[in-house]
Amino acid sequence: PFRNALRSSLLAWYDAQARDLAWRVGPADRRSGVRSDPYRVWLSEVMLQQTTVPHATPYFLSFTERWPTVLDLAAVDDGDLMGAWAGLGYYARARNLLACARAVAADHGGVFPDTEEGLRALPGVGAYTAAAVAAIAFDREANVVDGNVERVMARLFAVETPVPEAKPELKALAGSLVTADRPGDWAQALMDLGATVCRPKSPLCDVCPISAWCEGRKTGAPETYPRKTKK
Ligand code: ADE
Repeated sequence: PFRNALRSSLLAWYDAQARDLAWRVGPADRRSGVRSDPYRVWLSEVMLQQTTVPHATPYFLSFTERWPTVLDLAAVDDGDLMGAWAGLGYYARARNLLACARAVAADHGGVFPDTEEGLRALPGVGAYTAAAVAAIAFDREANVVDGNVERVMARLFAVETPVPEAKPELKALAGSLVTADRPGDWAQALMDLGATVCRPKSPLCDVCPISAWCEGRKTGAPETYPRKTKK
C-alpha cells in the first residue's frame, strides 16, 4: 500500500541524489547492475562505525591504494596496519579488521562470503556489518539498521517508545520496508536520507522524498523523534 509509493519515491530520490562516496559505484554502473566490491564495502563500513564520512574517506582511499584487495590487506604486518589506522581510533577494530581479512584469505580463498550468515561468521563482523555487506555488495534482502536508519524510522512512524528500548521495534519497522527489489540501493538510500535530510537537528522535511508519509512530520515536531526519555 503506502509502502510501495514510499519505496518508489525514496529510490527515485536516491537515483537522482545519491552521494558520490569513494566506495560506491557511479550512477551509470549502478544502472547497469554493477555491484560494489565486497572488500571495499566491508572496509568502508568498518571505518564508518568509527567515524564520519568526511573523516573516513581519506583513510579509505589510502587503504585501498596500498591494499587493493583483501589478500593484500591480509598479508600486511600488524604494525603497518596500526600505523595506517592511527587517527581512526579504537584499535580493537583495526585488529578485528586484520583478523577478518586473514580469515577471508585463509578460509575463503580471498573471496568474501555472499550471504549475511556467512559474513556474520567472520571475526569481528557483527549483525550490522554483515547486513550492510550482504545488501550493498550482493544485493541480498538484508535489513541494514544503523543510528541514521533508526532515526528515520522513529520519525516516519512517530514511535513513542524511547531509545534504547525502541531499538527492536525500529528494526522491525525498517524490516517492513525491505523487499527483494534493490535492497542494496534501499539500504544506502535510507542512510543518505538520514545523513543529509532527516538530520538529527533541523531535518529538511521540505525536500524529503518521503515526507508525505511521515507521521513524525504530522506531529509538527519531527525533530523530537526518536524519543529519548520516558514521559
Ligand atoms: N554510513 C555507514 N555506511 C554508509 C554507507 N554505505 N553509505 C553512506 N553512509 C554510510
